[in-house]
Amino acid sequence: MVHRACLLAMLTCVVACSEPEPARTPAPSSTPDPARTPDPARPPTPSSPLTPWSDAWLLREGERFLEDTAYRRAALEHSLVNPNNLYSRQRLASYGLGTRRWDRLPVWNPRSQPVTAELAAQLERGQVPSEPSEPLWDGNEPTTMDGWVALGRRVFFEYPMRAEVYMEWGLTKPALATAVGVERSAEGGVPGLVVFRDVDREVRVGITCAICHSSVDDEGVVVEGAARRSFDYGRLRLSYFADTGEWVEPGLARRMATWGPGRADVTEDDDEDPVAIPDLWGIRAQRWLTQAGTIRHDSPLALAIRQETQLTDSNHAMVRPPRALAWALAMYVYSLEPPTATTIDTASRGAAVFADQCAGCHANEGYGGRVIAADRIGTDPALATGRGRGTGTYRVAPLLRVATGAPYLHDGSVASLQELLSPARLSPDYTAGRLGPGPIPGHTAGTALVAHDREALLAFLQTI
Ligand code: HEC
Ligand code: HEC
Repeated sequence: MVHRACLLAMLTCVVACSEPEPARTPAPSSTPDPARTPDPARPPTPSSPLTPWSDAWLLREGERFLEDTAYRRAALEHSLVNPNNLYSRQRLASYGLGTRRWDRLPVWNPRSQPVTAELAAQLERGQVPSEPSEPLWDGNEPTTMDGWVALGRRVFFEYPMRAEVYMEWGLTKPALATAVGVERSAEGGVPGLVVFRDVDREVRVGITCAICHSSVDDEGVVVEGAARRSFDYGRLRLSYFADTGEWVEPGLARRMATWGPGRADVTEDDDEDPVAIPDLWGIRAQRWLTQAGTIRHDSPLALAIRQETQLTDSNHAMVRPPRALAWALAMYVYSLEPPTATTIDTASRGAAVFADQCAGCHANEGYGGRVIAADRIGTDPALATGRGRGTGTYRVAPLLRVATGAPYLHDGSVASLQELLSPARLSPDYTAGRLGPGPIPGHTAGTALVAHDREALLAFLQTI
């Protein structure tokens, strides 16, 4: 373990020496004057009547994101629904302050490469691969949307969120790795894992966005943006602790055992609120991000800041990504679409039932919607009221390709669409729940349908 101060001193050189981010004029350091701060939800339009969320508008917002600290700060403040949860407090204290806190962190453009079949074989033998030769980014800012998306794709698959000892260990145990959802593509690559040179110069195995937000289909093809519902991060970590005899805090161990595949407690506070990993389809249409609606999403800066701060925080706030990479990542996320086309029969009985029973809430083009008070929707309130990301609400979940999205609800407590629509699960005597006996409360819409309407609705849900 390197002492943190030494590490920081090393970093300043390691990172600054290879820093490719173009020098930008630093903006005023202090907290911006709210009266003069541009409202990111309403970009100034007179001179530029660009349609919000069009590619041209996104490109222009990207320039402002990269250049204007006060605009970034205002966007952060506007995007945080509950300024008092831990997620918001950490960012308000650290982000967009000009010459202080996270703005001062060294910019890190890592040397990183995906774990290919060959690298995986080396790691399985316990060998340390040689250091990747090139930094991830060549330092050129794209000028087109296609260019941003292509760069963002590399960030998604290759920018390390942190070194991950559990994965290093897991790769030496292929049967376990497969069992906990460390999936392999047809070529034998391991999407979501990288070999990279960490900030302390050690060559390590790291995880990227793709470990949770991509999956491999039956043909071995990587499906970008699909939730990795097989990924059992809790079990991987517990197996590591059991095997190595390393100490793990008993409370944390107990919590990790309850996550199961496809869920993770991404807050790492003491709250018990693991959440289901979502598909990342149709994010552009969602006006709130995350299941508890932690982030108001009126502006692409909201997502770019989420990604910049996520990469900063997950790398222990010792470095920050080049801002262009955070923007690229956001543009890539917006580009993600479901892998398969579907045909929707809008004249069907199921479509009519959906319009009548569901569309009042599941209202936007991705069938998501606004936020609803947790006690009104009635599902388990732990996440909504938690200190980590809580807002008191849950967002109406998008339903694109919902048929392949089981288990359902923010906590993955409902096993199937049949179960979601069955009145039996609301009963105190219900024993078939995947997280244990007892009722699965809340989201009562659709549970009182007559049988043929339920069947028609279920058929319709297969097609959206
Ligand atoms: C360990 C697994 C894991 C990793 C790694 C991960 N995520 Fe997530 N992601 C989740 C979970 C779980 C949620 C749901 C969190 C919530 O709703 O509070 C989520 C939510 C999101 C959302 C919000 C989706 C929505 O519908 O509102 C976005 C966008 C996202 N992740 C993008 C990323 C990106 C980009 C990265 C890489 C920097 C990343 N995630 C890394 C597990 C992960
Ligand atoms: C009162 C508003 C409201 C109505 C009406 C409503 N929903 Fe929802 N729906 C929500 C909310 C809020 C969530 C997220 C709740 C949570 O995760 O705790 C949700 C989540 C879901 C999910 C889980 C999606 C996932 O990926 O986990 C499905 C499926 C769903 N709704 C289907 C339906 C169907 C089908 C109908 C019509 C019978 C319907 N909903 C009616 C508000 C509503």
